[in-house]
Amino acid sequence: MGRPFAHVAIDGPAGSGKTTVARALARRLHVLYLDTGAMYRAVAVAALRQGVPVDDEAAIVRLARAHPVRVEHDPHSDEGFRIFSGSEELGAALYGNEVSTVVSAVAAYAAVRGLMVERQRAIAAEGPVVMAGRDIGTVVLPGAPVKVFLTASLDVRVARRLAELAERGTVVEPGELRAQMAERDALDENRPVAPLRPAADALLIDSSDLGVDEVVGLIAAAVEAVRA
Ligand code: DC
Repeated sequence: MGRPFAHVAIDGPAGSGKTTVARALARRLHVLYLDTGAMYRAVAVAALRQGVPVDDEAAIVRLARAHPVRVEHDPHSDEGFRIFSGSEELGAALYGNEVSTVVSAVAAYAAVRGLMVERQRAIAAEGPVVMAGRDIGTVVLPGAPVKVFLTASLDVRVARRLAELAERGTVVEPGELRAQMAERDALDENRPVAPLRPAADALLIDSSDLGVDEVVGLIAAAVEAVRA
């Protein structure tokens, strides 16, 4: 027996395929999967519902403390986990267009990130997990034995997001979506706290011309290598 398999950190911009890949990898490895973006989205949903302006940092932080985001694992659900804000489960509401527009602002606040990172580390402390996000390899789990930074060209990422939204019955104008995604990338990459960037020892994968199975295969091979 080699070193026990522990954590896999998968980071990358919107539409890079990280959540699809992370979910499939977790199924293959029979471990938990957590999309940390959904946790930031839960804070954004609460802000929109309570009418708290997302540029009011103090109010957003108060809101995040008052409505703790809870993650429950449910292997029978599509996602493999359920997200609650207080006692209310947030499903499709997390992925609405308005939420996508404001979530980067909410995720830029250090105190909000502190709350989320604490919960994410607590989940990882319970056992093996494939965690997807923007700062998992750099901040949340810097000791993870397998770290991946997944990218794809903006055109490919826009096309993927359009298909994903269409599946949920949401029609958006492609040019508008492209501009929105480019803006969100810039906000995530340039924020002072935990900006989106690869960990120094991350495996860089460009998924522009790769299918989900191919990417999952590459990461599974990296996991095998650290287990050996
Ligand atoms: O992956 P996503 O589109 O659901 O992420 C939503 C937002 O949350 C996105 O603007 C980046 C942010 N995020 C983050 O800052 N850190 C994470 N670990 C995950 C997401």
